[in-house]
Amino acid sequence: MKEKVTAYLSEIQNFSPENNEQFEIFRVKYLSKKGIFSSLYEELKTIPNEQKREYGKLINDLKNIFENKLQEFQKKFNKKEPKPTSIDLTLPGNSIAIGVRHPISKVKNELCEIFLKLGFSISEGPEIEDDWHVFSALNFPFDHPARDMQDTFFFEKTQDILLRTHTSSVQIRAMESLRPPLRIIMPGRVFRNEAISARAHCIFHQIEGLYIDKNVSFADLKQTLLFFAKEMFGEETKIRLRPSFFPFTEPSAEMDVSCKICKGVGCNVCKYTGWLEVLGCGMVDPKVLENCNIDPKEYSGFAFGMGIERTAMLKYSVKDLRLYFENDVRFLNQFI
Ligand code: DAH
Repeated sequence: MKEKVTAYLSEIQNFSPENNEQFEIFRVKYLSKKGIFSSLYEELKTIPNEQKREYGKLINDLKNIFENKLQEFQKKFNKKEPKPTSIDLTLPGNSIAIGVRHPISKVKNELCEIFLKLGFSISEGPEIEDDWHVFSALNFPFDHPARDMQDTFFFEKTQDILLRTHTSSVQIRAMESLRPPLRIIMPGRVFRNEAISARAHCIFHQIEGLYIDKNVSFADLKQTLLFFAKEMFGEETKIRLRPSFFPFTEPSAEMDVSCKICKGVGCNVCKYTGWLEVLGCGMVDPKVLENCNIDPKEYSGFAFGMGIERTAMLKYSVKDLRLYFENDVRFLNQFI
């Protein structure tokens, strides 16, 4: 056996294949099932036990030398052709879902555009406000329920710093900092301490309008709102003004539009009245003008305010307000 091993050793050491084929034949000769190493290990079984160690080492050493040799040539011959790329450039690409504008943003932009056409410009104010801008300057009496903790989110116990409950506060900010004539719309987020339901939420959006100039009359208000209603809900839309009350307007009114769905005949959306309530409005109370250092003898004006969610609900016939806040893409994707 010793001679055999020596002979194999010299064969291995002298082996120098010229191509991959020769290398493969050599490899198989030694490593296959019936190859040289298998037969050497078979033979080892027949060797007397006391010599096994010595012979086993001989074979193992031979194997190590063989494997080193193998590695040396493997490197040489196994420089494989680069694999063809697995990317198929002719396949269609992965389509990326493109987002859409939130319906509230869409309606807000639409509302703004209607009033921009009439020469209004956009103004914004802070969401964290003080009592003066949200209530006092707007002529809310001290015991008005809107000032109650139940409705308003106050910071600490001061009752002076709060989250605005309506965008009417921006009217005051505008009148304090700008001089008439004023023609502005003020979109924004407002906050009220309300239980969340299909019809109410603690966060929602409003848009406020204000027009202050010499000789502004209720007729101007009505004409402006009619233009708005037709632009927003369609040319055939009619409006109706019902007397109402707001501390900051006198006289005050609420505006309804004719129901788009039943065309005024009556259906479950308009609760069989033929009308849908859209906004509050009125002539700016002279006291409010005075609070902002505008002379009510020289100037008059109108104001209006509406909920953007509510307008969106009317426009898209969505009956549950919460859908606007859940950001479920199945809902949002409908507003492309
Ligand atoms: N601020 C009122 C509210 O949140 C809406 C409103 C009514 C605004 C009449 C106005 C107005 O400017 O004139 O309910």
